[in-house]
Amino acid sequence: MGCELNKKEFVQNIVQAKDIVQDEVSVFSPTNIALIKYWGKRNDELNLPVTSSLSITLNIGTQTKIVLADSDRLFLNGSEVCEDELFYKRTFSFLNLFRSPHTFFQVHTKNDMPTSAGIASSASGFSALTLALNELYGWNLSRRELSMLARLGSGSSSRSLFSGFVEWYRGDRDDGLDSFAQAFSDNFTNLSVGLWIVDAGKKPISSRDAMKQTMQSSTLYKAWPEVVDKDLAELKKAIGAEDFTLLGSISERNSLAMHATMLASSPPICYYLPESIQAMQHIWNLRRSGLEVYFTMDAGPNLKLLFLKKDRQRLQQNLTFPLTTL
Ligand code: PMV
Repeated sequence: MGCELNKKEFVQNIVQAKDIVQDEVSVFSPTNIALIKYWGKRNDELNLPVTSSLSITLNIGTQTKIVLADSDRLFLNGSEVCEDELFYKRTFSFLNLFRSPHTFFQVHTKNDMPTSAGIASSASGFSALTLALNELYGWNLSRRELSMLARLGSGSSSRSLFSGFVEWYRGDRDDGLDSFAQAFSDNFTNLSVGLWIVDAGKKPISSRDAMKQTMQSSTLYKAWPEVVDKDLAELKKAIGAEDFTLLGSISERNSLAMHATMLASSPPICYYLPESIQAMQHIWNLRRSGLEVYFTMDAGPNLKLLFLKKDRQRLQQNLTFPLTTL
């Protein structure tokens, strides 16, 4: 349904106003952690996913300022980023979708978390850019429309336009106009997300390339859409019932299944470090000893811990580093 579009044609379906109405804007966007992962695209150009996904929006994120300027410049956490860096190229090729020739931007972006450590700074980064453009051009778009634009920068950023639990629909159309994010629920006030950083360095392979390699070569990828359908339906029930045990176990198994499909790729993709495995085993041991804590992991070696607020102190006593709650 619908015909395939390129990014610019897609943008033209959503954005009409072209004139800049403010010459400086500053916005904040939170990041999110997927509990049911997005792994694989059915359309690379428009970042259309093979499956739907479901995330929780966090309190940390990205503050982005865009200033109209005489030439393009990009600053990340106060330091200038060179033109030949991937981060610069991704930022400006996204901005090029919206601006007319001879419009230049100075972009200042500040992350609350390490960039490229698998802690989804691209999610809040592209949603912040989208929110900034919405103000700069006075588009007045709905959150749903903004989620579709942010998706062109990075799929996971589509979910950062909403708070609480957020579902990003796969959609069926070839033109991508039915693949957007929507708030699912705001329950579960006693849920906490913590961070276990085992390594804050750059990841060995980008999620974009890793998804492609998995889809092309993993013998397990065929099963992935079915895994997601089942996990997504069960997770929604868990959220509705505020059932933490169910939420934690589904989220953990979905993340492990995603990494299993990557490990079965050729060449194999492994984001786990030896310390990641040790951390996972520590969490499983804590569960065996009666402390309910689960983990989820993205395209990186670090763990995001899921636990109940009432257990924070007990969990902290069983960790050797100060726990950051997100
Ligand atoms: O949107 P991207 O290209 O940053 O990919 C995100 C991939 C995962 O973080 C592993 C899963 C997800 O749904 O966020």
